[in-house]
Amino acid sequence: MNLNHTNKIRESIQSLMNESLEVNSNTPQKYWYPLSMVSYDIEEILEAVDSLCSFQTTMGKKTLQFESKFAEINNCSEAIMVNSGSSADLLIAFALVNQQAKLLNKGDEILVPSVTWPTQLWSLMMAGLKVRFVDTDPNTLNMDLNDLENKIGPKTRAISLVHLMGNPCNMDRVLAICNKHNLILIEDCCESLGAKFKGKPVGSFGIASSYSFFFSHHITTMEGGMIICKDESLSDQFRLLRAHGWARAAKHIEPEPIEGIDPRYMFLNWGFNVRPTEIQAGFGLEQLKRLPTFNSQRLQNVLYFKKYLNQHSDIMRLMEVLPDAECSWFAMPIILTQDCPFTKDEFLAFLEEKGVETRPIVAGNLTRQPVCELYPELQEPNLKGADIVHERGFYIGVHPFEAKKNLDRLSEIFEEFIKNKI
Ligand SMILES: Cc1ncc(COP(=O)(O)O)c(C=O)c1O
Repeated sequence: MNLNHTNKIRESIQSLMNESLEVNSNTPQKYWYPLSMVSYDIEEILEAVDSLCSFQTTMGKKTLQFESKFAEINNCSEAIMVNSGSSADLLIAFALVNQQAKLLNKGDEILVPSVTWPTQLWSLMMAGLKVRFVDTDPNTLNMDLNDLENKIGPKTRAISLVHLMGNPCNMDRVLAICNKHNLILIEDCCESLGAKFKGKPVGSFGIASSYSFFFSHHITTMEGGMIICKDESLSDQFRLLRAHGWARAAKHIEPEPIEGIDPRYMFLNWGFNVRPTEIQAGFGLEQLKRLPTFNSQRLQNVLYFKKYLNQHSDIMRLMEVLPDAECSWFAMPIILTQDCPFTKDEFLAFLEEKGVETRPIVAGNLTRQPVCELYPELQEPNLKGADIVHERGFYIGVHPFEAKKNLDRLSEIFEEFIKNKI
């Protein structure tokens, strides 16, 4: 965009944003401590305007640039942007059973977490894989690795891992289990962009990994997602699946000309259309620049609030992070202890009334959701850890900005309730 114009546009947009901020600050809000806050600024909006004004709105150069920067920070050679984290999960699942990739066969068993966002499972089921739930460690909120090993049977071929709430799993142990039993590993990193295990980014351990850029995530493209992997031919399967199975969507495949087939409309496989827009990719490019500051601010806020929470460790505890892990805190998940003198429901009702937005830890024990009655494979008894998370777990937001004052107010609210109960 022409710089003279950009400066004028910048001023106009800034004044529109200031107006909205003023309107918002004069409008009573239900929550003074919401789950998430707007994390984009004028640079992201200018990128969007630039795409619109240059008539470059469908997937193109900015998407390629965003993909390449994203791959670089995650130690992977290939990144494929899509329109949501769920679409990323969907393409990974379909690529696994794809005629061309042939990594898994329909009907193969894949072990999945019992506490996670459900599209991680739906995608695998839609692709014809048989999911089996593994129990959850109520301290880390990730898969219970002892139960994982116990659940491995003759039909098990793969593991679909999640690093929930930004908390890296013990990847030494997961990889040892995969090697011992010859299992394929995929990672759902939709809640863990920037997290590391022993200095290595999560998502770079398995054969493919998914990310989400929904509004409340570590970076946002409004809606959006990404797949990363290291294998060129697998990455092209994702590109075909992303765009109709269309030959020209591939980056590394050079299809032979076929008589009677116009190369512009050649289809190599089946596929969806889950492409992102340039507007989303432009947003992402700007957001990636902010990611290191966002994540370190999130960490500082958690550590600050943890100092307060530690005074009540007999009543409630923050999610535990392994010594070798760097958590990219997605939120502040808290588990009430068994001896806690009040119920989760009464505490959450109090917080909500005081303007603190709360949530259960995603879907809780997934087997308790009504959808599981529809599918026999989703019925799994004895998920004791997932039950603890379901019954005693909840989360509040953690924001990517300096928040000491708000966190002080939050601890006062916690204290007011706790004092009345003990
Ligand atoms: C673990 C996990 N997987 C998948 C998704 C789906 O991402 P999206 O909302 O972008 O579809 C989410 C969304 O929050 C998630 O938390």
